[in-house]
This record gives sequence, C-alpha cells and structure tokens, in this order.
Amino acid sequence: MAFRKTGPYIPSAFRNILTDWYTRNARSLPWVGEKDPYKIWLSEILLQQTRVEQGLPYYLRFIEQYPDVQVLAAAPDGEVMKLWEGLGYYNRARNMLAAARIVANDRDGVFPDTLEGLLALPGIGPYTGRAIAAFAYGIPVAVNDGNVMRVLARMAGYHEAVDQPEGKAQIQAWADQLVAGADPALFNQAMMDFGSQVCKPAAPLCSDCPASDICRAYQEQEVSLLPVKSKRIAKKERIMQFLVLQTPDAVLIRHRAEKDIWQNLHDFPAVEPIKPLSWRQLRSRLPQELTVLSGQSPSFTSSMYTQQFTHRTIQGQFLVFDLEDISDICPPDCQWVPKAELSKFAYPVIIKKFLLEFSYF
Ligand code: ADE
Repeated sequence: MAFRKTGPYIPSAFRNILTDWYTRNARSLPWVGEKDPYKIWLSEILLQQTRVEQGLPYYLRFIEQYPDVQVLAAAPDGEVMKLWEGLGYYNRARNMLAAARIVANDRDGVFPDTLEGLLALPGIGPYTGRAIAAFAYGIPVAVNDGNVMRVLARMAGYHEAVDQPEGKAQIQAWADQLVAGADPALFNQAMMDFGSQVCKPAAPLCSDCPASDICRAYQEQEVSLLPVKSKRIAKKERIMQFLVLQTPDAVLIRHRAEKDIWQNLHDFPAVEPIKPLSWRQLRSRLPQELTVLSGQSPSFTSSMYTQQFTHRTIQGQFLVFDLEDISDICPPDCQWVPKAELSKFAYPVIIKKFLLEFSYF
C-alpha cells in the first residue's frame, strides 16, 4: 500500500511551480535583481507595512536624493522626515537614519554581510534582515511575513494559528526547507509577489493559480478559512480636537516631541477627549496656556478627519480661532510660523490633509 501523508505538509512540487510562475510574472521593480545592500536595505525599510504602489515613488526619490549610505547619514533629520512624509510609521524613518549613521560612521559605509550583523542594526527585524540577506548576498534564508504565512498555510492545509509561536515556527521551517533548494533572491521575491498577487487574503485568484492542483486548502474548499489567526486586532480609537490659532499672517504649530505617535512631526495644540466635545464642553478643558481662548468661539469647526492605523483609528477635528495678533500666547513646544513658511515643516497625514484642504499651502 502506498504511503500517504495525512498531516499538513507542503508538496515539494510547490517550489518549482512558484519559481516558474514568478519567471513568467515577475514585476519590473527597481530593486528586483539589485545586489547593492544599501539599495536593498532602503527598499525593504520603505516597503515595510507599505504597498509597493505606495512605496515605489518614495524609493525613487530617496535613491535620487541619497545615492549612497554616506549621503543619507549626513542628511539633516528634518530633511529626511520631510521626504518620508506621508509614508507613516515614522519610527521607521528614525531607525533608518540611525542605522545609516552606524554603517557610515562606524563601518566605513559597508553593510554587514551576515544575517546576525544585519539584525544588530536599528530597524532591521527578522523579516527585513532575512530579505536583505537573501536579496543582497544570496544567503539561503526565507522571509516569513503575512504573505508567506497565508500561502504556506493554504498550500499545506494548516489549521494551527500562524500568529502563535508554534505556528510561526512551522511556517518558517517550511519556508526554509523550500528556499534551500532554490535561488534565495528569486524564491523570496516570488513568495512575496505570489502572495500579494495570486494567493491574496480576500478574493484569491484560485482559478488562475498554477498551484491549485496541489493546494490542500483549494482541494478541500477551505481557502477562505486559512490561515487561522488567534488574535483579532482590537482597533482602538483616539480622538483629537486640534486648536488652530491663527492671525492674518501666522499659525501656531506644535512640535510633537513626546514619545508617542507622530514623534518629531508637527500638529497643533490639542485636547484628547474620550468622545468628541462641543466647544461649550471643550472650553472648560483647555490647557492652562490656552485659557485665553475660553472667552472666544471658533470661527470655524471642521468635520471629523479619519486616519487608520493597523491598531488604531485617529479621529481629528480642527477648531480654528482668528486672533488679531499673536500677543504672548505660546504653549510649550509651540511656535508661530508665517503662513508662507508652513510647508517647510513635516506633518502627519491628517494634519496635512487639513492644511491642504483649507489652502494653507
Ligand atoms: N515588500 C517588502 N519587500 C518587498 C519586495 N522586495 N518586493 C515587493 N514587495 C515587498
């Protein structure tokens, strides 16, 4: 009697099916086939938690402005943050600069060429480290992200939670097993692209999939059930009511210095209630330095603006106050900026939306 595997496993034919598919469907992206570790590193940092369509123009601008790691390391923080503006997750930008400065100043501009060395740099975690190791140096390590978990859990018909240590380790073991027999750069790029273009989270293209014959989830009609995740991410809501103080010529902006979202970007003094408050309720909650506003009403109150993060939603409302002059109002971390100079500062997406919509620049 023929031996029949019953537990979940990845059919070994998958490796060739995947790489054949990729050879026919490779997207022409500037970092594909690239071997310069600086360029690979930059592309991976910019693409973390970001779709290719969104990250690509940033990559092109960064490479043009900072063609090598020394140029990036020497750039002023504010200039880099400005170029990063709109990508979100600003900690990535801070870590990117810190890593660039370590490589430029302590390592003579030479990137580490081992996975361990890469992982020691700020902002390089297991996923990014493995991607750089495979793409730049051909080290046979497999990346393991949401795409890889989904593709392999479906191929194998794997019903354990992929976001638990055991499930993660199983997926990693399968991915490492597959990469060992392939070109590491090609294999990893193929997994990323196959996961994002064919084996998609919703509405996967199973009828066009070259692996559907050997996909356990497809054969057993369980594609929509896999991968299994134990954690449902609780989305928290944060409400910010911004107080926009302006004179005919200037606006009061705040530098977000605290360790919180949007660190080092600019917004306005704000109140953060549990639910949106009317001006009547807000005026009694003003920070000490802004109590002068309590005798005044906003000349304009915006609708709610929304910005969605992975773990939380930010709702922002803008209350605009027209003042005759700036008198001596200047809360901590705030500065009055001439309207013509507002565009020189870096802002979170929600603030920039407001400034653009109301023609501040
Ligand atoms: N996301 C992260 N790295 C990527 C890459 N190299 N290609 C496409 N998408 C990616």
